[in-house]
Amino acid sequence: MNPPKHVAIIMDGNGRWGIKKKNSRNYGHKKGLETVEKIINEAIKNKIKYLTLFVFSTENWKRPNSEIKYLFNLLSNYIESEINNLIKKNIRIKIIGNISIFPKLLKSKLKKVEKKTKSLDKIQINMALNYGSREEITNSFKKIKKKNILITKRNIEQNLYTSGIPDPEILIRTGNTYRISNFMVWQSIYSEIFFVKKMWPEFTKNDFNNILKEFDSIKRKFGGLDE
Ligand code: IPE
Ligand code: IPE
Ligand code: MG
Repeated sequence: MNPPKHVAIIMDGNGRWGIKKKNSRNYGHKKGLETVEKIINEAIKNKIKYLTLFVFSTENWKRPNSEIKYLFNLLSNYIESEINNLIKKNIRIKIIGNISIFPKLLKSKLKKVEKKTKSLDKIQINMALNYGSREEITNSFKKIKKKNILITKRNIEQNLYTSGIPDPEILIRTGNTYRISNFMVWQSIYSEIFFVKKMWPEFTKNDFNNILKEFDSIKRKFGGLDE
């Protein structure tokens, strides 16, 4: 099996799962983090080099403050408690998205983990935080204008948050919802898309491996014809 270089995941369904379990949306987020840890390990086992996780979108600010706060706390605690483990496991963390408007302490923790793991190369986890494709693409054009360089596909790509990262061969969305929600629109034009009925906290390493297996059997033609 030839592993994909890059898998991107829209981790959807935490809230509904929490409610279904007669608990809270936030309980779902907490359980969702356990799935994150499982899938990172599974991605490493499968020799995947880039794993992009959609954690917080530019649209998620519309949620109640209490939920946003809970998510940020979860993230903050995760980084604090996991940073040494990440380093030990040779994992690089990269933030994609605009975190300039995040709470100060969280921002500094995120910058710190990015800096401390910069040279690690077992796998790169791209954490999409306050990420939206439209912002990303608009931002790229702004940078191009500032640099006074030509608008070319290459220059647009090189000024995205994901500059230098190969496009995801696989895009997964859990949560039984069939849309892209402003995620990696530029990068996913030829991604194989897997919509999963299960909610993110229910998603298992088996589900992940089955997707990799199915991917392996797909003939990718990129507009051409079968050999
Ligand atoms: C997790 O799922 C995605 C995040 C924004 C953290 P949701 O919180 O969107 O859960 P559902 O879709 O409402 O069930
Ligand atoms: C997408 O899920 C964002 C993340 C997984 C972080 P949403 O739950 O925000 O998407 P919509 O609102 O259902 O499209
Ligand atoms: Mg959702």
